[in-house]
Amino acid sequence: MAPQIPTHDLNDGATLPAIGFGTYPMKGRECVDSVLSALEAGYRLIDTAVNYSNEEEVGEAIRTSSVPRDEIFLTSKLPGRHHAYDDAKAGVRGSLDRLGLDYLDLHLIHWPNPSVDKFAEAWRALVDLREEGLIRSIGVSNFTEAHLTRVIDETGVTPVVNQIELHPYFPQAEMRKVNDRLGVLTESWSPLGKRQAPFSEPPVASAAEAHGVTPGQVILRWQVQLGAVPIPKSATPERQRQNLDVFGFELTDAEMEAITALGRPDGRLFGGDPDIHEEM
Ligand SMILES: NC(=O)c1ccc[n+]([C@@H]2O[C@H](COP(=O)([O-])OP(=O)(O)OC[C@H]3O[C@@H](n4cnc5c(N)ncnc54)[C@H](OP(=O)(O)O)[C@@H]3O)[C@@H](O)[C@H]2O)c1
Repeated sequence: MAPQIPTHDLNDGATLPAIGFGTYPMKGRECVDSVLSALEAGYRLIDTAVNYSNEEEVGEAIRTSSVPRDEIFLTSKLPGRHHAYDDAKAGVRGSLDRLGLDYLDLHLIHWPNPSVDKFAEAWRALVDLREEGLIRSIGVSNFTEAHLTRVIDETGVTPVVNQIELHPYFPQAEMRKVNDRLGVLTESWSPLGKRQAPFSEPPVASAAEAHGVTPGQVILRWQVQLGAVPIPKSATPERQRQNLDVFGFELTDAEMEAITALGRPDGRLFGGDPDIHEEM
C-alpha cells in the first residue's frame, strides 16, 4: 500500500503534498516509466516545466496511471520567453495540449528574468488563467523578496509557493523567512544537492546511522522539518520509494542545526542566482 503523505495548506485553500517528485532531466520512455513508478510508490506531487521538454511524457504517465487525476497535484512552469501577457496565456494552453490534460494544479513562473522585466505581466496572466479555471493554483520559482513584493503589490495576489534552490550546502535561511512572512510555502529544488550531494558529511552520515536510514532520507527529512517541500528526482524505483519514506523518524534539534550549519557562501549550484540567471 502507498504511504500516507502529510500535506500543507496553501494560501489559496488548496493542499500540497509534503514531498514531491522532480522530473528533470528525464525524457522519453525513461520519463514515462519513472513517473508511473513514482505514482505507484505513492508520490502525488509531480513537477515538470515547459523547459524540461517532457510535458508529453509526464502527461502520458498521468493519463495512463491507475491513480485518479484528482488525486495528483501536477506542477508545470512558464519559461522566460512566455512572460509577455498574451504569450503567457498561449503558453499555458500549449502546456495543457502537450500534457493532454484540461487543467494544471499549479503553474509557476520558472525564473523572474529581471533584465527582461516582464515577470509581473506574466503573473497577471497566471492570475487571469486561474480565473478561467485552466490552472487551480499559481506560484513562482527562483523569486527574491523584491520579485515577490512586486507581484503581490501589483496584483494583490500572493503566490502559493516559491520553488527555490535549497539543500544542506545552501539552506536559504533568509529566503525561507521571507516566504514564511509573506505566506508563501517554500519548495526545494535540487533538494539532495544534486552534483555535490553531501551524503558523506559527518552530520548527515551520523544522523543516518543513528536513525537507521540512508543519508538521502536524512536530507529529505531535514527538508520536511524545515517546513520546505522537497521534490527529489530519481529514475530508480528503489530510490523513489526510499526518498518518500521520510515520515517515520524525526531528527533532533541538534541534528537539524548541524545539517543546516553545512551551508556555505559558495554553496549555490552553478546558475542558481535569480538576480543574474536568465532562462528563456
Ligand atoms: N525551479 C527550478 O529552477 C529548478 C531547478 C532545478 C531542478 N528543479 C526541479 O527539482 C527537481 C529535483 O532537483 P534535481 O534533479 O536537480 O536534484 P536532486 O533531486 O537533488 O538530485 C537528483 C540526483 O540525485 C540522485 N538521487 C536521487 N535519490 C537518491 C538517493 N536516495 N540516493 C542517491 N542518489 C539519489 C538522482 O539519481 P537517480 O535518478 O539515478 O536516482 C539524481 O542524479 C528536478 O527534477 C526538477 O523537477 C527545478
